[in-house]
Amino acid sequence: MTSKPLIAITGASSGIGEATARAFSAAGHPLLLMARRLDRLEALGLPNAVLKKVDVRDRAAIADAVRDAEAIHGPVDMMFANAGIARLGDIAKQPPEEWDEMIDINAKG
Ligand SMILES: NC(=O)c1ccc[n+]([C@@H]2O[C@H](COP(=O)([O-])OP(=O)(O)OC[C@H]3O[C@@H](n4cnc5c(N)ncnc54)[C@H](OP(=O)(O)O)[C@@H]3O)[C@@H](O)[C@H]2O)c1
Repeated sequence: MTSKPLIAITGASSGIGEATARAFSAAGHPLLLMARRLDRLEALGLPNAVLKKVDVRDRAAIADAVRDAEAIHGPVDMMFANAGIARLGDIAKQPPEEWDEMIDINAKG
């Protein structure tokens, strides 16, 4: 266990989540990094990082990942619920399933 607390980040495989993971890692924090693309999490090569293939629509998978990371690094100090998608379209023509997908991932996730 390191002296700094554990930071958990969903959607850490690209973009804002990846940049946040790199920033907290540079500041010396252990990390729990979650995303569907495990290969991209592995490619970050960050130290003291627990990497978990997680779809944020799967609550049990998130709970399992947190439990595993906390067993190594202690309690999560911050959860950055960053995972998200953008299905931007014409609201009159867009399939409602795309709204559901965004709400399930961006909001509920
Ligand atoms: N960039 C912008 O201008 C902007 C503007 C407004 C809001 N946002 C929000 O900011 C957040 C990050 O945006 P970004 O630009 O960094 O996007 P990004 O580069 O596309 O990254 C999105 C991240 O979310 C993950 N993700 C998507 N669906 C997921 C799921 N079902 N389960 C787990 N992880 C999932 C992706 O990982 P995997 O594909 O590997 O799972 C990826 O790591 C998003 O929530 C986005 O909606 C961004």
